[in-house]
Amino acid sequence: MCAAINSSDPRRLPLEPITSRRNPLVGRFRALHQAKGRREQGLLLLEGTHLLQELLKRQLAPAQLLATPAWMACHGDLWERLPVAVQPVGEEVLAAVASTENPDGVVMSLPAAALPQVQGPADFVLALDQLQDPGNLGTLLRTALAAGVQQVWQGGGADPHQPKVMRSAAGAALALPLARELERNGLIARLEQARAAGHQLVATLVASGPSSPFEPVPYWQLDWTRPTVLLLGNEGAGLHPELAALATHRVTIPHSAAVESLNVAVSAGPLLLERWRQHHGPG
Ligand SMILES: C[S@@+](CC[C@H](N)C(=O)[O-])C[C@H]1O[C@@H](n2cnc3c(N)ncnc32)[C@H](O)[C@@H]1O
Repeated sequence: MCAAINSSDPRRLPLEPITSRRNPLVGRFRALHQAKGRREQGLLLLEGTHLLQELLKRQLAPAQLLATPAWMACHGDLWERLPVAVQPVGEEVLAAVASTENPDGVVMSLPAAALPQVQGPADFVLALDQLQDPGNLGTLLRTALAAGVQQVWQGGGADPHQPKVMRSAAGAALALPLARELERNGLIARLEQARAAGHQLVATLVASGPSSPFEPVPYWQLDWTRPTVLLLGNEGAGLHPELAALATHRVTIPHSAAVESLNVAVSAGPLLLERWRQHHGPG
């Protein structure tokens, strides 16, 4: 049962609701669906109650938050804790600013600068070569955070700030430092540095696939407790030969010959969590 909106703090009293989709605020939020709009405003678009909870958990504040009166009536515990005033909007306005088909009643913007930055060395890094699919990228970030990855390095590929990545990362994008190089060469430079610093660079290859210059070993045979950069390849082409050639180790996930390879985000599960298992046991 949701309560009527009734805040004891007058600073929390809701603003006048926006009911017209022609309101300039609607245009500014809609622009955040595109990379150009995000770049120009320095903001990202986050949607849904879960991502708001993740923001609060990490003591991050949205720049602006739009919510329907129905959502506000049910989530006073969340919005009354915010350092910004909530802007009530009609259902149609919320649907217009959201990028999802069925938004749950709340949409917010977040300064891109609030996201964690890659700084200093890290013992466990996930490196992604030209990953294209935003759902895969978000899922990978979520698994990476669960597995104790400290930094993510992207060589080209999907924009990590797009709403679909934010949604599928389920909050992990708010916690995991990520550096995106526009070109593969930028990633190669990072990998060379890591290798010179003593990290093992682990290429992931489909056994006997066309991109396998040397036969990889099953992933559980690797000592994952060493400082490690795990390299995952593009959905279609796999790991670029230049990156595979840089690797100090090559691993594979054995599976039946009924499929050529695994989905890249699925393959990350056993690979990333094997390091967790070797650190935390059992076995
Ligand atoms: C869909 S696969 C790419 C398939 C590509 N045709 C090839 O031959 O590499 C995308 C990425 O997922 C990872 N991957 C998929 N299946 C794997 C497996 N069986 N073992 C290790 N990595 C795998 C690798 O990082 C690969 O580059």
